[in-house]
Amino acid sequence: MAFDFALTRNPAPATPARLQEILADPGFGVHFTDHMVTAEWTHDAGWQDAVVEPYGPVTLQPHAAVLHYGQEIFEGLKAYRHEDGSVWLFRPEKNAERFERSAARLMLPILPAADFVSSVTALVEIDERWVPSAAAGEYSLYLRPFMYASEAFLGVHPAQEVTYRVIASPVGPYFATGAVEPVDIWVTTTYSRAGAGGTGAAKCGGNYASGLIAQQEGYAHGCSQVLFADAASGSLLEELGGMNLFLVTADGQLLTPELSGSILEGVTRDSILVAATELGLTPVERKIELAELFDGLASGHIVETFACGTAAVLTPIGSFRDEEHTWAVGTGSIDHTLAIRTYLTDVQYGRRPDTHGWLTKVV
Ligand code: COI
Repeated sequence: MAFDFALTRNPAPATPARLQEILADPGFGVHFTDHMVTAEWTHDAGWQDAVVEPYGPVTLQPHAAVLHYGQEIFEGLKAYRHEDGSVWLFRPEKNAERFERSAARLMLPILPAADFVSSVTALVEIDERWVPSAAAGEYSLYLRPFMYASEAFLGVHPAQEVTYRVIASPVGPYFATGAVEPVDIWVTTTYSRAGAGGTGAAKCGGNYASGLIAQQEGYAHGCSQVLFADAASGSLLEELGGMNLFLVTADGQLLTPELSGSILEGVTRDSILVAATELGLTPVERKIELAELFDGLASGHIVETFACGTAAVLTPIGSFRDEEHTWAVGTGSIDHTLAIRTYLTDVQYGRRPDTHGWLTKVV
């Protein structure tokens, strides 16, 4: 059954003056729109019709399963306003497919991709005024669909009652440094993000919770993100705390760790691999040793590196650090990173033809 949205309008939406104030400096994930989407699922009845309702606190029993066992998944995608005022989603079906895979891994019910896309669309439509204007620069409306075990039961089993919601937040750059300022990356040798057979390829809260301690270690050393190696050998690059990683070599290769089963299959990652070929780079997905990264940085073979994700877009990396070393990246040129970044953001904001059919018009 496809969702049919019942609408309850927010009786006290943000005033135009307040909205203007927020959109002038949205930050990241600080402000939320007037509405949210909610749908409930039960084992016996399946998905119930979704509602678009006022954004606000949600209630859970203290013994709701998600609070104890972390049965939860989420997604992140953005709505972009083009110069003609129209609003578009970037590859929402890719997020929908990943949400299905994450749900399967976490024993949550499958939300059909069409319902995922229609729920996101319904929220963007009703809260369209929250999508920052094209003139604002690189601002957008960040959409956060998520699903959790709302069943009130302390036994450990796949939840029989589940809640799906979508919330939306107008956003600017993810990193406090700004949109394209290089960030420094902490290389943790103490902690792993995910292991073989674990949940690393799923977008679930637990992956992020388990990474916080390493991220904190990075903050303490002046870094903005943490790089994890694989859990088995500790010698292979995997990904950053909340984003994928790319390296550019002096001979024009664009390297990224292959999908090992414990790496998140990023939508931005996938789009970059497509864009790279058109920009004259050779995309390569393979195993990459940490030693290869460090040696390549030292020898100058690796000339640029960057982090990527929906939130981070493409953010250049200035250095990698551990307890004893700092490896500076390249000579300060970030031309390749900027070229790929511009390619993607130009498609997203409608400044470049969408030759791959990546955009879906909402308004
Ligand atoms: C995203 O890029 O959408 C993410 O989920 C990353 C998160 C750290 C904000």
